[in-house]
Amino acid sequence: MENRKPFIAGNWKMFKTCSEAVNTAGQLVKLVKHANDIDVMIAPPFTALVPVSDVVKGSCVSLGAQNLFWEDEGAYTGEISSAMLVSAGCKYVIIGHSERRQYFGETDETVNKKIGSAIKDDLIPIFCVGESEKERESKATFSVLDKQVKRGIEGFSTDDLEALVIAYEPVWAIGTGKTATSSQAQEVHQFLRSMLDKILGNMLAKSIRILYGGSVKPSNIKELMTMPDVDGALVGGASLSAETFSKLVHYQV
Ligand code: PGA
Repeated sequence: MENRKPFIAGNWKMFKTCSEAVNTAGQLVKLVKHANDIDVMIAPPFTALVPVSDVVKGSCVSLGAQNLFWEDEGAYTGEISSAMLVSAGCKYVIIGHSERRQYFGETDETVNKKIGSAIKDDLIPIFCVGESEKERESKATFSVLDKQVKRGIEGFSTDDLEALVIAYEPVWAIGTGKTATSSQAQEVHQFLRSMLDKILGNMLAKSIRILYGGSVKPSNIKELMTMPDVDGALVGGASLSAETFSKLVHYQV
């Protein structure tokens, strides 16, 4: 893993009211207070960002959002800007999750704009890519990822992308209980890192963290994290319980 700091990120999706989110975050802060040398993030729904931000302040748990809109402000009913996320206490933002691509019409082009907006406001983008089951079966995995990554980061300088985090989430493994095997994950992560090497140079390719996402749970995290190019996990279902998520944070123990 070279010098990349492991990163365990929880995506709560459309789960938890404000009081539920505050409770879970409070439990998590206690359970992971001795976690060292690891970055931890939770991404509650928008409505819970501010109250959860108060709970995690001063702890090792950082706050992330699940989406943003790229304009600074304006008549865009229902949307939230990156500056608003910063003002709510966010450090990270998940961009281009496959559920947003599938249900909300996100494309590589809108993902690119969102990454640009996050960078401008010093939010760290967690840029999600991944192939569908059909694409994997037809051996298109690498070409799909090549296109998603290139279009997603097109137009940014190496300075812009210094803090970028990439999440490889095979769509067939999200919420399905089907995890990619550690060697399947490693194969793709290695491919992504060699792409980054070609596009951004060796320094950034070595420092950008690539997370795996898709049915990560306490029983498979250790194995995944032994892979040299897997730097962490983006976790959906198993991040909703503080106890289960804390086991993922403590995967080394
Ligand atoms: P899952 O979701 O862990 O429930 O499979 C992962 C994700 O969508 O980020």
